[in-house]
Amino acid sequence: MKQLCTPILLFVFLLASCSGKQTNLSFELNPEHERKIDALISQMSLEEKVGQTCQITLDAILKKDAANKLIEPHQIDLEKLDEAINKYKVGSILNVSNHTFTLEKWNGIVKTIQDVAAKSSTKIPVIYGVDAIHGATYIQKSTLFPQEIGLAASWDTSLAREMGRITAYETRASGVPWNFSPVLDLGRKPIWSRFFETLGEDVYLAKTLGSQIVDGYQGGTSIDENHVAACLKHYVGYGFPRTGRDRTPALIPERTMLEHHLPPFEESIKNGALTVMINSGEVNGIPGHANKHLLTDVLKEEWGFAGFAVSDWEDFINLYKVAQTDSTIKDAIATAINAGVDMSMVPNNPQYKTYCQEFTGLVEQGRVSQKRLDDAVRRILRVKYRLDLFERPYTKKEDYPSFASKEHMQKAYLSAAESITLLKNDKNILPIKTSSKVMVIGPTANSLNCLNGAWTHTWQGVDPKYNNSNNPTIYEAIKISASSCDLYEGSIMKMVDGDEADFYSLDLKSAVKNASKYDVAIVCVGELPSTERPGDIYHLDLAKEQQEIVKSLSKTGIKIVLVLVEGRPKIISEIEPYSDAVIQCYLPGDKGGVALADIIFGKINPSGKLPYTYPRYSGVIMHYDHKQSEVINANTWKNDFFNPQYNFGHGLSYTKFEYSNMNISKNAYSLSEKEITVTVDVKNTGKISGKEVVQLYSRDHVATISPPLKELVRYNKISLEPGETKTVSFTVDIEELGFYNIDNVWVNEAGKHSFYINNLESTFSLK
Ligand code: BGC
Repeated sequence: MKQLCTPILLFVFLLASCSGKQTNLSFELNPEHERKIDALISQMSLEEKVGQTCQITLDAILKKDAANKLIEPHQIDLEKLDEAINKYKVGSILNVSNHTFTLEKWNGIVKTIQDVAAKSSTKIPVIYGVDAIHGATYIQKSTLFPQEIGLAASWDTSLAREMGRITAYETRASGVPWNFSPVLDLGRKPIWSRFFETLGEDVYLAKTLGSQIVDGYQGGTSIDENHVAACLKHYVGYGFPRTGRDRTPALIPERTMLEHHLPPFEESIKNGALTVMINSGEVNGIPGHANKHLLTDVLKEEWGFAGFAVSDWEDFINLYKVAQTDSTIKDAIATAINAGVDMSMVPNNPQYKTYCQEFTGLVEQGRVSQKRLDDAVRRILRVKYRLDLFERPYTKKEDYPSFASKEHMQKAYLSAAESITLLKNDKNILPIKTSSKVMVIGPTANSLNCLNGAWTHTWQGVDPKYNNSNNPTIYEAIKISASSCDLYEGSIMKMVDGDEADFYSLDLKSAVKNASKYDVAIVCVGELPSTERPGDIYHLDLAKEQQEIVKSLSKTGIKIVLVLVEGRPKIISEIEPYSDAVIQCYLPGDKGGVALADIIFGKINPSGKLPYTYPRYSGVIMHYDHKQSEVINANTWKNDFFNPQYNFGHGLSYTKFEYSNMNISKNAYSLSEKEITVTVDVKNTGKISGKEVVQLYSRDHVATISPPLKELVRYNKISLEPGETKTVSFTVDIEELGFYNIDNVWVNEAGKHSFYINNLESTFSLK
């Protein structure tokens, strides 16, 4: 595994305190912190140590009524808090129960908890964690960005870092120092309910954008009061369940694991990420939480990960209740801790008490060694020190004047504007004039929840109760700019028994009848917010009731702009031919309505590019980096089977770009040489300025493991004024052009290679 062992820049050669082996640690240890940790650990009782590894949900310490229902407004039950911290020595708390709190409320919650922890026997602060996955999602009025799939469509590393920085600042303003983000699972199963939480299908894109998000969250290596600890999830293979259903088994050959699934994690670990969350599912029959090879051998020893690994929700319990690889909770705790999990998101009451008792027994009986427990505690304390929680256990909103500031909102708007992707624009129907008469129709046209998706104010994101005001929906935003604009329902989408149900709407008839009064119909389709198991679906087809809007309107001759507001690509092949333009919004967040309207009216020139291959058929899910055997078409005997609706990296602009003069320094390189430089000229040949993502792909024509036809190796988003030409230069390490061979060792083989940029190709050989 050559690539995994390569020593990388920031690594510092240090003695790994945890394993006793010499290894390159993922971040430089602070000797003073380590001394303090030594002192603390030497004084801690077994129960205190076990408690540090226990994470409970906020519900477990909230006041409940006689029927065991949470009392509104939520209040901490001081007796329960005292029991958790002082009796069970709990070291971490997470989440919030289907609620969004004000900053003030958050400050109060965190302070109340930390005040109790400060008076506990160890005085160790609690580490509080939340899912602030596209902005500080559980704080009222916070800045909400596009979900990761949209952010990825911007192909802009600086926007990814800014999303991280602003989210960290606003999360820390609430007092919470730990964010369960980013998701680094690859988006290679469009039907998977968490596809929208990923950075798309490509390894290099996920790797580069992911590590920038981590940088934004953590602010480099030193984490100050404006930053939070990142949590890379869900290590690893979680996003690739065989059936596409959440938390179901994945089958991933070792080579694919090495080539696709591990690299985004490895990159962010090297970038100093402090924590990792474990895959709730299983890979090749081994539950994520029991996989000692991936958790200890690869993550901790090979990559030198110096932070801590937290379980996902109830996953110790799931080892015996769901995976059925252990027969008791006690066995499951031993399995997971010995595999290398450091903290258990237990998270409920009274289960957490059982966890603490059983774990204590396991150490007393020698089934979990004192050394392993100390290692887990050391890692957790290390992160608490790095976050400065001992000195500053909570924050005050007054110290965060930029919370939800204009500047933050502008960045969220920019991220949405740069991610929205123009997929089709026949006869340049877009942009339209503000004087146009506009029909806005469809079930996602007037919903802020649909623009934001799940993990927004509540877990599933469907409750409009906490929505941030002053964020126009698509219809409201179009209405602001257009001189004439009417809203029609088109079809109805609602939750029925936990699933999305679609219905025909009677007003489609009047929309059809009135169509001649309008210049254009903006048809907004998509899906209701959902995630995890509640987001499992049976097929990828866009609801037929939604398709009917396009089919019916197309008979009237009205121009149709199809707007997709969706977390995964729903099949649109039947209605796409009736649409003059198609725009993919993904889940663009609070600013999505305005950003889309600005694109429709030409205030913004679109520059998003698809971070995944948009399938034409539910049954043909292919990725852009497919192989020769996959493109042979048995009907035509041509190499044209790869025929997606839209290709990975596709996205149109209102201007035109011309590529020329692709050059590589030589046409033959020896394998011992270090790098290759490729240049290309890109010219804006249109009349308006625009941004273009220049994408460099490579191909190894013949290899001992059948090679993909192309792989993304570099990209760069540039701005060009009308008539302007820029020379874009990429430098690629020759080593990167290799692959895992039959022994799963990273190698470069001699032979013919190509680079592709847009429609240009340069061929060279490696000798
Ligand atoms: C999800 C995680 C999330 C955790 C805490 C789990 O159900 O899989 O992604 O971070 O809950 O909310």
